[in-house]
Amino acid sequence: MNPAEVRALFPILKKRAYMFSGGIAPASTRTIEAMKKHMDWVTNDADDLYLHTEDEMQECRRLFAKLLGADTDEVAMVESTSAGSNLVVDLLTPAPKGSNVVFDEWAYPSSVYPWKLKGRENVQLRFVQPRDGLVHFEDFEAAVDDKTIAISVSHVTPGQGFRHDIGALAKLAHAHNAVLIVDGAQSAGAADINLHKLGVDFYSTTAMKWLMGAGGVGFFYCAEKHMDKYPTRAGYASNGGYDLHKFKFLPSAERFNLGLSNIAGAAFTRPGLEILLETGMKTVEKHVLDLSGYCIAGMRERGMDVITPTEPEYRLGVIAAIMPDAKEFWKFLYDRGVDTYFHGNLFRVDPHVFNNRGDVDRFLEGVDAYQEKGTAAAKAKRKR
Ligand SMILES: Cc1ncc(COP(=O)(O)O)c(C=O)c1O
Repeated sequence: MNPAEVRALFPILKKRAYMFSGGIAPASTRTIEAMKKHMDWVTNDADDLYLHTEDEMQECRRLFAKLLGADTDEVAMVESTSAGSNLVVDLLTPAPKGSNVVFDEWAYPSSVYPWKLKGRENVQLRFVQPRDGLVHFEDFEAAVDDKTIAISVSHVTPGQGFRHDIGALAKLAHAHNAVLIVDGAQSAGAADINLHKLGVDFYSTTAMKWLMGAGGVGFFYCAEKHMDKYPTRAGYASNGGYDLHKFKFLPSAERFNLGLSNIAGAAFTRPGLEILLETGMKTVEKHVLDLSGYCIAGMRERGMDVITPTEPEYRLGVIAAIMPDAKEFWKFLYDRGVDTYFHGNLFRVDPHVFNNRGDVDRFLEGVDAYQEKGTAAAKAKRKR
């Protein structure tokens, strides 16, 4: 499929310029069909659905693994990115006294908080500070030492749209016998990623953003070599059986599941993974970078304070700008049929493979109209 064919699958785009993929994915016609099928199944043949609960989940694991260059056995379906970020800390603790973990100041909170829980106080948390709008690899090099047990980053940071070089960070971590932990909530489904080739140790993400799947569904990747580390929670699903007197974690990442998985969420999630695989992640990433580059240029031309780097190697689909009136601007665009995001003084616009330059132009026309409105209001105020 090409991006125009992907676009045709999303009803919302007939009316709106939906550019909030860093938040939540709109439903495609394939997703709507999958959910209808699921509802029909649970309505008319629930017993049969129960017998097949595993199938949809297994298929999602398989598709996700294929999309990100992993083995199915290394992938677990979990409930969120944050759940995966907690799981990895369970696997790495208790850690020897004097250990440290290196983050940067733009890390997502769910990657940091689990290290602050009881019993983990002896791990020092180090934060690399960004400089000149970038997090510099050399600053990670300076922060890491032989007491480092992990480097932990958000592949693409949601507040800036900055993209780390996770291949280089994995090499750095391994050179110190440490591991690389990646929060991929803003990269899975937008970037062409091969987790094996990049050498990533742990990767967590949600299905509901760039993967075009459901909220409440996430994926957790644990590299095969780390299957000797054990989770701290167990349910029948981690054992693969009900014998009270025999417990052994399953050999694959399925051990991270406790009970019945989110079967409605899996039905919702599968079509998005299939669409991305049919399109090919090289095509997806190229399209996303083209649109984000085009959009950033248009925003800068209009004087917007874009904080996302211009260079394609440092960005992906998240475009961030600072505006004191971000909320008002978001509402103005929303009323014109352009979907974006704001939080405090952060404004964001996140184009995906289903968007086109027409959507970006519609957004930029919105910027022009908003600025004209501001100029007219200022003139009227001066006259008064
Ligand atoms: C980088 C990053 N990590 C994690 C999350 C939260 O994801 P989840 O709700 O799946 O835990 C977000 C949400 O925006 C995010 O941008």
